Amino acid sequence: MSQIDSLLHEDRHFAPAASFRAQAVGTAELYERAAADREGFWAEQARELVHWHRPFTQVLDWTNPPFAEWFADGELNVAYNCLDRHVEAGNGARVALYWEGEPGDSRQVTYAELTDEVKRLANVLGDLGIGRGDRVAIYLPMIPEAVAAMLAVARVGAIHSVVFGGFSADSLRARIDDAGAKLVITADGGWRKGKVSPLKPAVDQALADRGSGAQETVEHVLVVKRGDNPVDWAEGRDIWWHEAVPAASADHEAQPFPAENPLFILYTSGTTGKPKGILHTSGGYLTQATFTNKVVHDIHPETDVYWCTADIGWITGHSYVTYGPLSNGASQVLYEGTPESPEPGRWWALVEKYKVSVLYTAPTAIRSFMKQGRQIPQQYDLSSIRVLGSVGEPINPEAWIWYREIIGADEAPIVDTWWQTETGAIMISALPGVTETKPGSAQVPIPGVSIDVVDESGAHVGNGNGGLLVITEPWPSMLRGIWGDPERFVETYWEKFADQGYYFAGDGARLDEDGDIWLLGRVDDVMNVSGHRLSTAEIESALVANEAVAEAAVVGASDETTGQAVVAFVIIKENYLKQHSPDGLAGTLRGWVGEQIGPIARPRDVYIVGELPKTRSGKIMRRLLRDVAEGREVGDTTTLADTAVMSVISAQVR
Ligand code: WTA
Repeated sequence: MSQIDSLLHEDRHFAPAASFRAQAVGTAELYERAAADREGFWAEQARELVHWHRPFTQVLDWTNPPFAEWFADGELNVAYNCLDRHVEAGNGARVALYWEGEPGDSRQVTYAELTDEVKRLANVLGDLGIGRGDRVAIYLPMIPEAVAAMLAVARVGAIHSVVFGGFSADSLRARIDDAGAKLVITADGGWRKGKVSPLKPAVDQALADRGSGAQETVEHVLVVKRGDNPVDWAEGRDIWWHEAVPAASADHEAQPFPAENPLFILYTSGTTGKPKGILHTSGGYLTQATFTNKVVHDIHPETDVYWCTADIGWITGHSYVTYGPLSNGASQVLYEGTPESPEPGRWWALVEKYKVSVLYTAPTAIRSFMKQGRQIPQQYDLSSIRVLGSVGEPINPEAWIWYREIIGADEAPIVDTWWQTETGAIMISALPGVTETKPGSAQVPIPGVSIDVVDESGAHVGNGNGGLLVITEPWPSMLRGIWGDPERFVETYWEKFADQGYYFAGDGARLDEDGDIWLLGRVDDVMNVSGHRLSTAEIESALVANEAVAEAAVVGASDETTGQAVVAFVIIKENYLKQHSPDGLAGTLRGWVGEQIGPIARPRDVYIVGELPKTRSGKIMRRLLRDVAEGREVGDTTTLADTAVMSVISAQVR
């Protein structure tokens, strides 16, 4: 049965237990308050959850859509909200981070210690000339310094751009260039799958290439010693963290910045070859990240141990590792490595060791644990778990039920949270103490958020029908734009439903008979592999940059474990075809894409073909290639310039 069929036949329901409901932070009244006065509701949340150095009097300014301003005349310091205020409230001794390195080393960092570290680092940043509005690239493994780096940049009013440590030197350089970063914060290396994976060499390479903008804008590289791998050193440019930070003063008063001061840029894949820098600002972002972490994950900061398994290189790591939980004053687990290192039960050993009560992870991880079998998690005491969250891709009912039964003792509510890099924070999710959950459905907009499913003309589809997911009203943590490209921002998200003024998310969705939302995946050329967003165009342009490749087309094919997998169809230049075997070429190209973009973009399959299916106007029909990649009967080929081409391709792939 296909995933969509199994979604449509799913009708199990799970109501919250009375005992859970009684203690839940998120209540049904929140929906009523938000429905009565949406902006007033967000103003209340902003006042209650965030400390304002200067209170705001305006809530939303939507006079120049789609450029929103929230709480614009208010002033705050985001890092103060995540650190100092908890120490000042007497909670300095509370553990902020239970950090676990992959080789088994561990560190506990209290709120007082993290505040101290961030203050020292803020002083180092000041000495390096980093101030309000400057961009700082962060390229680090999952270590406490990564969180500290983000907060220190925020503290001085600068803008961070975190680049996932798995990205290549090329990808890093493109991001440094686009943002014009002045400083890069990195590490010698980090632990991954039992060995040190070097990071500093990629930074050196990104900064070395002649003619690169990165070479011109970056003044310093601050390096954390983690992997102990040997690194090259550029005197005058490179600085060791362990020399600079402890030597700096621990006195640093957090200055207030306007609510709309930019907080970070995070690059994500779109439908074109060039990743876009999604821009988020301070007050509205922090309000919604804090609110959703609190009510969706049901955070009780005094007692919970929370663990979001996302890397800080993704938006989930921004909103639900760094900003949301620390703003709420929660204690959380931070883990450096991969789930199966050094043994397949590593995650469950951590849940047992730290008595994790709230676990937030991705369906891909759940499906790979399912494959390994329940006997692995069942060797551990998981009884501390009381809330389970899912994010990043649709979760199939089978995985949902397994997650609940095996990890949640058939008791823990599951919150399936839909959102995007662009939305900044959770938009659609159950509230665990309120919503009767349905396996496979993200269900309802959170209080204060307005969502609809519409047809191509923008009309509501009605219950029982499918269509396109739109956000119909501005929300506090919405993206404020694409770095350096306001036109692309308007075009990408707002043009499709310009008449209605809706934000177009790029996702397909269906409303069931109760009006609950079921996400059906992307409707554009964005793929979702293991919850990571990849663009078909970006991988195609990496492929054609290889000298052997004449043409390439990439599709996302459904995959049992990773949700989707990258499948490439490639035409090889004649002379290369004569000299190399197709298998050898396919292997080389898989590796090539891994080097160009990063291992997550490496195609699962590369098929060497003679031709690609094109319309008369020359457009590649990816839909047909997807049919081949998924082993289906090839669909309607009548619009192809050459209708015979698909049978040739099918034969070549077989
Ligand atoms: C997909 C990740 C179904 C969706 C937070 C979206 C989901 C894209 C879910 C954003 C979910 C995210 N159910 N699909 N619960 N959560 N998606 O920017 O296609 O990395 O557009 O943000 O992931 O990916 P991004």
